[in-house]
Amino acid sequence: MAETKKISDKRTPGPGSREAIAWAVDAVRPILAEPPVCFGILGSGLGSLIQQLEDPVYLPFKDIPGFPSARVTGHAGELVFGYMAGCPVLVQAGRFHGYEGHSPDVVAAPVRLAAGLEISTLLVTNAAGGIHRLFPPGTLMLISDHLNLTGASPLTGAVRPGEIRFPDLSTAYDGVLRDLAHRVALESGIRLEEGVYAGLSGPAYETPAEVRMLRLLGADAVGMSTVHEVIAARALGMRVLGVSLITNTAAGLATGKLDHTEVLEAGAAAAPQLQRLIRGILARITVDAV
Ligand code: HPA
Repeated sequence: MAETKKISDKRTPGPGSREAIAWAVDAVRPILAEPPVCFGILGSGLGSLIQQLEDPVYLPFKDIPGFPSARVTGHAGELVFGYMAGCPVLVQAGRFHGYEGHSPDVVAAPVRLAAGLEISTLLVTNAAGGIHRLFPPGTLMLISDHLNLTGASPLTGAVRPGEIRFPDLSTAYDGVLRDLAHRVALESGIRLEEGVYAGLSGPAYETPAEVRMLRLLGADAVGMSTVHEVIAARALGMRVLGVSLITNTAAGLATGKLDHTEVLEAGAAAAPQLQRLIRGILARITVDAV
């Protein structure tokens, strides 16, 4: 008689799936000494910011059930709970990018994890190419709006619990938090610009023709991340603050070749400024901007 062998009752959930997020929430909750006020995502070259956290507790992606591990050089690949300016935060160093082959659901998984942990604010940073003529390398740009030019969305498919089918993105980047960031920048003597971020799939840098097109479309900076994370956060009702660090002039707007090392170095060079800005924001986020 034919027999069907049962190997295991337990199926590993696909990365980014509802079940994987639920596993991750259960794994991460016990390491939180208290509920984080903010979930921070660190972009390329900005991972050194986690060294500034007080009382850090590290959780490598590989130890989080349902999480893939980050693969690109310069990405540490861990979540860290800690305090900055007295504010409890959970920080992701090393994000999942679509160009590594990750689906939008995997890219957005840490944001969904944060929402599952009842964290209400997302502070997202990235490295970006400058398109605006007055945004040279080293510029910090508050994101006022974005263009999702990846052709994909983390909201495709069945609506997940707690998410909105058709979220309104007309105020995706929170006005109150942006005001707070500008106040902190002014008081701390940090130059902070504001502009529109274009999110593309990559991994090739753009052609000069694409950069001219992006400028016509209203983009001030271009990068390969952020938009999916922000869309998921808005569908979950999180408020969002986004900061781009301009690491290079976008293709065709300056002489010289683009390479990833330059992006990482510019990120490292500007990290202290960004750190001062973030510290100032976190010191006042609960007081000024609830
Ligand atoms: N283009 C796309 N992504 C980037 C760039 C760029 O010029 N710089 C840093 N990330």
